[in-house]
Amino acid sequence: MATSAAPSVSAARTSKTTMRALIKHHAGPGLKFIADHPKPTPGPRDVLIKISKVGICGTDRHIWEWDDWAAGRIPVGIVTGHEFVGVIEEVGSAVTRYKPGLRVSAEGHITAGIDYNSRTGNAHIASDTRILGIDRDGIFADYACVPEENVWPVHAKIPDKVAAVLDPLGNAVHTVMAAGVSAKSVLITGTGIIGLMAVTVAKAAGAGRIFATDINPGRRELAKKLGATDVFDPRNSSWISDVKKGCRNEGVDVLLEMSGSPAAYDQGFSALRNGGVAALLGIPAKPPTFNITQHVVFKGATVLGINGRRMFETWYQMEELLLSGKLELNDIITHEFPLEEFEKAHETMISGAGIKVVMSVNG
Ligand SMILES: NC(=O)c1ccc[n+]([C@@H]2O[C@H](COP(=O)([O-])OP(=O)(O)OC[C@H]3O[C@@H](n4cnc5c(N)ncnc54)[C@H](O)[C@@H]3O)[C@@H](O)[C@H]2O)c1
Ligand SMILES: [Zn+2]
Repeated sequence: MATSAAPSVSAARTSKTTMRALIKHHAGPGLKFIADHPKPTPGPRDVLIKISKVGICGTDRHIWEWDDWAAGRIPVGIVTGHEFVGVIEEVGSAVTRYKPGLRVSAEGHITAGIDYNSRTGNAHIASDTRILGIDRDGIFADYACVPEENVWPVHAKIPDKVAAVLDPLGNAVHTVMAAGVSAKSVLITGTGIIGLMAVTVAKAAGAGRIFATDINPGRRELAKKLGATDVFDPRNSSWISDVKKGCRNEGVDVLLEMSGSPAAYDQGFSALRNGGVAALLGIPAKPPTFNITQHVVFKGATVLGINGRRMFETWYQMEELLLSGKLELNDIITHEFPLEEFEKAHETMISGAGIKVVMSVNG
């Protein structure tokens, strides 16, 4: 991996016009630590945020590894990262709602708010969406600028470690709430970072039985600890008939697909009852072969595509769930490294040794 050693932290922090940042410096694997990257200047409607902690996302893994998706999407030279918590340091001249000193996170999907979907309550699928750390500079840095509209003030009772990962937690909350799980049997295919979050969210949201699959035994074990009723290794497909038998010989009421694996799509829909609801978050690497006649048409299934987080309904729901004290995230956020140890942090996430890995930037 092409990276460079981190220079002294104190030297970088004293500069007023530069900052430390992780840059996608070339069209290949790795990131580069730059000690004197230009500090951004907020536009009239932006806030400048001093970043405290950041989360490493599956998307950052694609960017690190420089797979086909990253090569086709990520501009070389960009500051990466999109999951964060920080403190507002400065506000643009037209900002009215926020002041320096406020602890905030932000919705990373930025839109002008003028397209059809933004104006009809569906900004999460706006046609002009630009994403922090993907389409424009992100937050693996000392500072980042975000439009005022995207800022999310963080409740005092939510610790920084959790506030740093509101973005993926919001994916889980969006999926669970869109499907509607209260008093329903639920199957979660893929208990990775977001699938595990969905287990604890579904439990808090009043799901009945929660079934889960993952090829990773450690993740299955953790899913059980977080509230899954039964967990299965998907490579032994007999679990599907067992689950169906246990659900009135029909199947589960709700499928939450959170693996992106074509095999899991097929298994999940096989275990879904006729008339069930499937909420699909997982992103297959390639368009999968999928029996739409059997799984959707004759089944009368309702299929929901889940993209990002609803703005800002998901954020309010997430805050309420966090403040209820019912979400268990401690076992999911497994590691924390200083920004300077970004290579170790990414490797810990990519190797699977860690689940959600956080980097501490300023505090
Ligand atoms: N739609 C969105 O807005 C959005 C946002 C973020 C992530 N995603 C996608 O959601 C998915 C989950 O994200 P994540 O960050 O939790 O990823 P992750 O890699 O942490 O989790 C994926 C999990 O699926 C498991 N898995 C692989 N094959 C499986 C199979 N056949 N059956 C069951 N489990 C299997 C893996 O072992 C892993 O634990 C990914 O596909 C990601 O690209 C979508
Ligand atoms: Zn993310």
